[in-house]
Amino acid sequence: MKIAFLASEAVPFVKSGGLADVAGALPKAMAARGHEVIVILPKYQMINSEHWRLEPFINPLGVWMGDGEEWCSTTTCPVGNVRYYFIESNKYFDRHGIYHDAEFEDYRDNARRFGFFTRAALQLCRDSGFAADIIHAHDWQTALAPAYLKVWHWDDPVIGRAASVLTIHNIAHQGKYDRADYEHLGLHWHNFTADRFEDFGGINMLKGGIYFADMVTTVSPTYADETRGEVGGNGLGEVLCNKGDRYWGILNGADYDHWDPAIDPLIPRQYRPRAKTGKRICKRALQERLGLEPAADIPLIGVVGRFVDQKGFDLLAESIEWIIGSMRVQIAILGAGEKELEWTFGPLPGRHPGRIGSYIGYNEELAHWIEAGADFLLMPSRFEPCGLNQLYSLKYGTLPIVRATGGLNDTVIQYDERTGEGTGFKFLLPTAQAVYDTVGWAVSTYYDRPKHMKKMIAAAMAEDFSWNRSAAAYEHAYAKAIEIRRSGA
Ligand code: ADP
Ligand code: GLC
Repeated sequence: MKIAFLASEAVPFVKSGGLADVAGALPKAMAARGHEVIVILPKYQMINSEHWRLEPFINPLGVWMGDGEEWCSTTTCPVGNVRYYFIESNKYFDRHGIYHDAEFEDYRDNARRFGFFTRAALQLCRDSGFAADIIHAHDWQTALAPAYLKVWHWDDPVIGRAASVLTIHNIAHQGKYDRADYEHLGLHWHNFTADRFEDFGGINMLKGGIYFADMVTTVSPTYADETRGEVGGNGLGEVLCNKGDRYWGILNGADYDHWDPAIDPLIPRQYRPRAKTGKRICKRALQERLGLEPAADIPLIGVVGRFVDQKGFDLLAESIEWIIGSMRVQIAILGAGEKELEWTFGPLPGRHPGRIGSYIGYNEELAHWIEAGADFLLMPSRFEPCGLNQLYSLKYGTLPIVRATGGLNDTVIQYDERTGEGTGFKFLLPTAQAVYDTVGWAVSTYYDRPKHMKKMIAAAMAEDFSWNRSAAAYEHAYAKAIEIRRSGA
């Protein structure tokens, strides 16, 4: 198959969260399975053309956006078997950030920026003769692709036969904008209806994308179920229910080229299942790096992630003094985001020297060190479409402590105290008490049941969440999308 991925971020070029990991790894896995895959990204300021040796491609590319034609240029480079294309527009992408400025203020023209990008990406396919079988869009930023395909390219000789797949990575972000922006998106007003793009008088880009897409997927089966509800669906539950069997959950994979302790070049010592020394060295190095007491026999709990409401780190903030006061445990925190949480977690090492270490900011290497050096990884998410850190932590023999929601529920197997089976510790309620109790459960298992710990670590490291498995599931979704497109439904 010929597949074009449209995404607003992708590893190794630009990343703000898990979407970038997926948009980096899934195309690679698809290419490895023999498909011809291209990925199209905006060329943000932070992507260095010289470093990546971006070659000029189609220039200029004219993009009709409803209120006239706008021009951009395009560049390209290969990464392995995948070819990347970049939409270059000073007007829209030559800025400090991806979605927001340095003060975390969203850019006010985001609807236009990503509408333009999406439309330009389709034109790039068409003008370069890339006769895609599948156009795979991700999240609200590229959710207009299925609509543009149906509205503008239905009879196009090059991309007219492409089927569209839209993957929802997080339904909390829907691309809701003012009605006034609609006329700049190049869509007719007759699509501005409550079942398509209109939402309480404004635009909802994700909603329209869901309506027009041949297939819609999300990133875990449990999250697919949760989002069909009115609460979990953030208002789009009914729209998703209406898709019927055209909406599925497909679990993300983990990119083991980057996240495998046996070959990870970023960690202090590589290690394999059952060989204990490497992980011990990683723990010691992590303790030293974050100013923790260098003791091998204290359980170390890692925390990595964006400080946003979704992740439930406020529940940890609420319980952390209580945990530290009553358990012999260490905690290593890496993250950035909401200022209140940064102000809470930032000074904690000063108050609990040797027991709590924290780094406020984004640090790829330290994320790897924590996955490798910690004994447990805590993810108390309020909701979690898939979650990647727990997949990485399983591979590193770092047992996840998670709230049983979304992909966390689908990928972590609850510890069974009778048999020692399982790969982690799960809790149901999004409360500080539940975080405290479950951390206590993990810590007491660490001290009192070393045989069970060993068994769980071995089971965790033996789990296989490689992309190849998920890629096969996507092939199935693509085949279904093509069938739907061909039937003209
Ligand atoms: P989300 O996409 O909702 O942020 P995921 O678990 O899917 O959650 O993916 C998060 C990704 O971002 C992981 O690869 C994780 O290691 C990385 N990450 C998040 N915060 C940081 C940080 N402060 N420093 C380094 N990596 C981070
Ligand atoms: C989103 C979700 C996260 C998921 C990632 C990749 O950012 O919050 O749970 O793993 O997308 O699909």
